[in-house]
Amino acid sequence: MNILVTGGAGYIGSHTCLELLESGYGVVVIDNLCNSNPKSLERVEALTGKKITFYEGDVRDEALLQRIFAENQIGCCIHFAGLKAVGESVAQPWRYYDNNLNSTLVLTKVMQQVGMKNLIFSSSATVYSADNEMPLSETAKTGNCTNPYGWTKYMTEQILSGMCTAEKDWSVCLLRYFNPIGAHKSGLIGEDPRGIPNNLMPYITQVAIGRREQLSVYGNDYDTPDGTGVRDYIHVVDLAKGHVAAVKYTTQHTGCEVFNLGTGVGYSVLDMVNTFQEINNVAVPYQIVDRRPGDIATCYANPAKSAALLGWKTQETLADMCRDAWNWQSKNPHGYSEDSQS
Ligand code: NAD
Ligand code: UD1
Repeated sequence: MNILVTGGAGYIGSHTCLELLESGYGVVVIDNLCNSNPKSLERVEALTGKKITFYEGDVRDEALLQRIFAENQIGCCIHFAGLKAVGESVAQPWRYYDNNLNSTLVLTKVMQQVGMKNLIFSSSATVYSADNEMPLSETAKTGNCTNPYGWTKYMTEQILSGMCTAEKDWSVCLLRYFNPIGAHKSGLIGEDPRGIPNNLMPYITQVAIGRREQLSVYGNDYDTPDGTGVRDYIHVVDLAKGHVAAVKYTTQHTGCEVFNLGTGVGYSVLDMVNTFQEINNVAVPYQIVDRRPGDIATCYANPAKSAALLGWKTQETLADMCRDAWNWQSKNPHGYSEDSQS
């Protein structure tokens, strides 16, 4: 079966393409490369010895999508394509709503036209309200998002579940990711953020490699064991395998189902820094600064539903995540780009 992967050249998409190919699926990618480098796909091809059919273009381009479906027999679509920088979404809300909502609307319109109605969507733990008890089950309260990025995920979930209510032959999995980090063991593909990283692990690896002076730890006065924020970090390869499990589920069921993809365990910022330093034997200088606005103290998943229905569980440890993130960064000090100006 061929899987259409939108945004397949990106961080999670490229790791998922690799796992899909390793599991025997054919892979067709559409990506406009607005936040990625096509080298990621070349490296996935080199690692697997298999070809990816790549279309450079925008998911909002209806004619291109129609051509892709005409030229390929697609059995399921995984929709990663989207903009994901929280701060940028506050500064450029229209761009985020346009890209993230219209890509889904155009994609599902064309899927409807061709009668292929199996869809997996990249949602986020950010859709959960801040006032829930931990761990977060899929039934926890959603909404009250604090930024346009979060609202695009929330609204897309509403759009897709509404579609499944209206038409019973759709099959949709909404996958709520917790905090993906790490890289493939080869060190050939990994996370390659543009500009200054917003997220913790890429910042740590860039400090360790000497591209940034020191890490700012955003607050040590939270109600957590060491005062720093606690999150559910998940190895990107475990996350990618979750998508392979979701493809199986989606193609065997109908209706809309929500799944958490997390480990169920929370680690603090200082746990991350300490584990990274110890396992890699490299220094990560840091200073404690004020809290980052919008951050919550603690966030981690209850992954029981994914285990029960998808038959999927994470396997990688925090040490694996730190080792693999460093392996990627040290083999590719400037990510996929060869220039050293970023
Ligand atoms: P990424 O930026 O590396 O990948 C997204 C890809 O989509 C990029 O290759 C980009 O070029 C492409 N793209 C964006 N808009 C497009 C469009 N209109 N048409 C075609 N291609 C387009 O991000 P990622 O970390 O791999 O995230 C993948 C998905 O998972 C995103 O939807 C993101 O919001 C979601 N997600 C990510 C995280 C995370 O921490 N990385 C957490 C939760 C959810
Ligand atoms: C971020 C996104 C969220 C997204 C999630 C999953 C923001 C505000 N939120 O959440 O929408 O769903 O990623 O990928 O970007 N930290 C530091 N110093 C840093 C960076 C982070 O101390 O330089 C701390 C944060 O305060 C937090 C933890 O590290 O406690 C993790 O931060 P980050 O990687 O940005 O992820 P989230 O805040 O969970």
